[in-house]
Amino acid sequence: MGLIRLLPRPGGSPPAPTPERQPEHVERVLEPVVSEPASEAPSETPSDSTVDATTSPAADPAPDTSGDTRTATRVIALANQKGGVAKTTTTLNLGVAFREMGHRVLLVDLDPQGNLTMSQGLNPDAIERSMFDVLVHRVPISEVIEQREVDLAVASIDLAGAELALSALIGRERSLEKGLAEVRGQYDFILVDTPPSLGLLTINAFVAATGVIVPVQCEYLSLRGLVQLENTLAMVRENLNPHVAVEGIVPTMFDARTLHSREAIEILEENFGDLVYRTRIRKTVRYAEAPVKGSSVLKYDPTGAAAEAYRELAREVVAAKEAQDGAQAREHA
Ligand SMILES: Nc1ncnc2c1ncn2[C@@H]1O[C@H](COP(=O)(O)OP(=O)(O)OP(=O)(O)O)[C@@H](O)[C@H]1O
Ligand SMILES: [Mg+2]
Repeated sequence: MGLIRLLPRPGGSPPAPTPERQPEHVERVLEPVVSEPASEAPSETPSDSTVDATTSPAADPAPDTSGDTRTATRVIALANQKGGVAKTTTTLNLGVAFREMGHRVLLVDLDPQGNLTMSQGLNPDAIERSMFDVLVHRVPISEVIEQREVDLAVASIDLAGAELALSALIGRERSLEKGLAEVRGQYDFILVDTPPSLGLLTINAFVAATGVIVPVQCEYLSLRGLVQLENTLAMVRENLNPHVAVEGIVPTMFDARTLHSREAIEILEENFGDLVYRTRIRKTVRYAEAPVKGSSVLKYDPTGAAAEAYRELAREVVAAKEAQDGAQAREHA
């Protein structure tokens, strides 16, 4: 598949202000492509009926984040509607890397495929209660958390029916947010692995999240897919969670030997600038081997380059947020 080269940003000139959408830098980098004709809107992009107006901020205001644990706990959704880009691999290994740094970490498997659950040695088919019960039956999330390398709220095959079951519920987009409230203060990082779609499960992750990290496979770069994701996020920001934004893009399956991979990075940086993390997650079979053993790559091959890459990413994710917070504090001073 060939890479789509987007129009470069117009001469580095500042973007037209878009006050209703945050953050500005995301708007800026997407500006050349967001203006695609509406008729080309993706089928996965939620329709207005998916984003329920009855749960808009006006009807059900997002809680005030000042001074509560919500601001301290980072809830990060790992999302990309394209399949096989390393969402699950990144959720697990980034989470374990945060744990190694001393942070309290919860992983949430929100994908009916249950790959995250499996990658910690659990069988989703044999699980009695899972995130399905948390989302649909309001079972306390603490009842579906397993202690593995890090705490993990498990998925089962039932989750495949969650979107349908949720669609009949009032506040269907806030089920995860409500479920997490019980344990939120107990963790520094909650990482949510999402399915390869922009349906109701992923929307739930966006509504609960303080930020989104987007793994992007360097081989089959789909910038159009990233625009669709940002459009969905913009809808969530307008209706459900004004705080959520893409906080970073992780290039995965990078192969420095191929021009194709290097070009993919170039295109990403051209379009998304500082949102692209400097850490490259290289292509190696280690990432496929580790889950077979029910472990992260940090446990499977602790001194290897594959493990080190996710440690580096974890440090970068922490540092990027600190830099962002510092800049915001100076702005408000
Ligand atoms: N850096 C890498 N190098 C080589 N293989 C990788 C790398 N990262 C992940 N993989 C492998 O690629 C496959 C897809 O990864 P993963 O399951 O994490 O993707 P995903 O985005 O979660 O997929 P899905 O959309 O189906 O949930 C897995 O077999 C995984 O082991
Ligand atoms: Mg996955």
